[in-house]
Amino acid sequence: MSVEAASTLKGGAVVIETLLVLGASGDLAGRLLLPAVGQLLDSPEGPEALTLVGAGMEAWDEDTWRDRITKAFASVNATGPGIDKTIATSIYLTADVTNAADLKRLLDACQGPPAIYFALPPAVTAKACAALGQVSLPPGSALVLEKPFGVDQASAADLDAIIGRLVPEDQIHRVDHFLGKSTVLNLLGLRFTNRLLEPLWSADHIDRVDIVFDEPLGLENRARYYDGAGALVDMIQSHLLQVLALIAMDPPASLQARDLRDRKADALRACRVWAGDPAAASRRARYTAGTIDSRELPGYAEEAGVDPARETETLAELILEVDTWRWAGVPFRLRSGKALGNGRKEIVITFKPVPRLLPGLTGIAEPTRLRISMGPDRLALDLNINGPDDPFGIDRVTLDADFNPGRLPAYGEVLEGVFRSDPTLSVRADTAEECWRIVDPVLQAWRTGAVPLEEYPAGSAGPATWID
Ligand code: BG6
Repeated sequence: MSVEAASTLKGGAVVIETLLVLGASGDLAGRLLLPAVGQLLDSPEGPEALTLVGAGMEAWDEDTWRDRITKAFASVNATGPGIDKTIATSIYLTADVTNAADLKRLLDACQGPPAIYFALPPAVTAKACAALGQVSLPPGSALVLEKPFGVDQASAADLDAIIGRLVPEDQIHRVDHFLGKSTVLNLLGLRFTNRLLEPLWSADHIDRVDIVFDEPLGLENRARYYDGAGALVDMIQSHLLQVLALIAMDPPASLQARDLRDRKADALRACRVWAGDPAAASRRARYTAGTIDSRELPGYAEEAGVDPARETETLAELILEVDTWRWAGVPFRLRSGKALGNGRKEIVITFKPVPRLLPGLTGIAEPTRLRISMGPDRLALDLNINGPDDPFGIDRVTLDADFNPGRLPAYGEVLEGVFRSDPTLSVRADTAEECWRIVDPVLQAWRTGAVPLEEYPAGSAGPATWID
């Protein structure tokens, strides 16, 4: 069995050739953005070269900035004439990106309409967007924003209103790199190119859906961001709800941005916490000291930069329903956590049992399960067959296949859409707000103490009572 990687969604030409990075001297630009830009420039899908304009508070000279880009590109082994040209022509300007006059100066340094990338903390992004309102942006400019996009539904809507006045929605890219993961994109290939699956893809045949992203990684020096976010916001509110949308949506008419994003939005609009009870439908926990692969990890509360009184969870679980004809009654369990021993990252579709097990067949008939692993990128289908000796005994077999690797790493795949002015893989305003609407009641229930913060040792599979 072989599963083709989802076909190219983005067919258009590269239309944006300037990248303006606000917050160029910060951690996000160095760790995430610049390496991904290098990978994109080094691939046939990316622009040949970019005019890269960096802006930040640090009084850097050009050499310091070019050195940073060179190192970031080298970290992903990106080489070639486009890389050299981009480095050689890149400029850095010291600027207060929340100041309209400074922003105008930055835009004047750009050639053609830029993609403006906000590598900034959310509060500074909001101020920079407000200041951009006093400057006229070249037609065709794009805005690129990272999560967290707001802190709740109301703040996300406020931010959407501000940026919606700057450029049309199709030129706004709210980045969610999970939408560029080849496994996640494979949900499209798998669902819509196999006659076998779609007729069964509903509450008539599916018992439950589990979307699990458990990571062995701990905090990794990210306390400043993570302690204010936690597992629910960091992973479920953003990434896992996007995955849910691709699983639960009705077939779109095409994979064009409008069609795909409309269907995702329909699914998310119908999504709510199970039985409308956020306290009963959610669980949260935090890791204590432990060992993972012979690495000793301190307890989360003892990590540098963590304020234990915030009670930030490092493992969250949420049961949702998608209240449509297709999905009524099917629980979608979303779970993600850090410092977990098993590193399980998979989507599991569990089918209902057969209507009747024939008398005479012996053994246990487990449900048919489709497992889509998000690392390693694999597909497995668990079926029942007859046993090896007794032809009437039931045995379990797994058909499996590797997913083809994507053309680009996930982040680069999403970024490519920015330069082609194709928002297919970007999160649309309504969807960003819906994702907050879904989790806001849970965050509220947690704040009031309605859900206890449990504990699990780092390296374990989570709290003992959660293990199913
Ligand atoms: C990021 C989260 O968005 O996604 C991290 O902030 C998480 O906490 C990461 O580790 C997981 O994605 P990936 O692609 O690195 O496995």
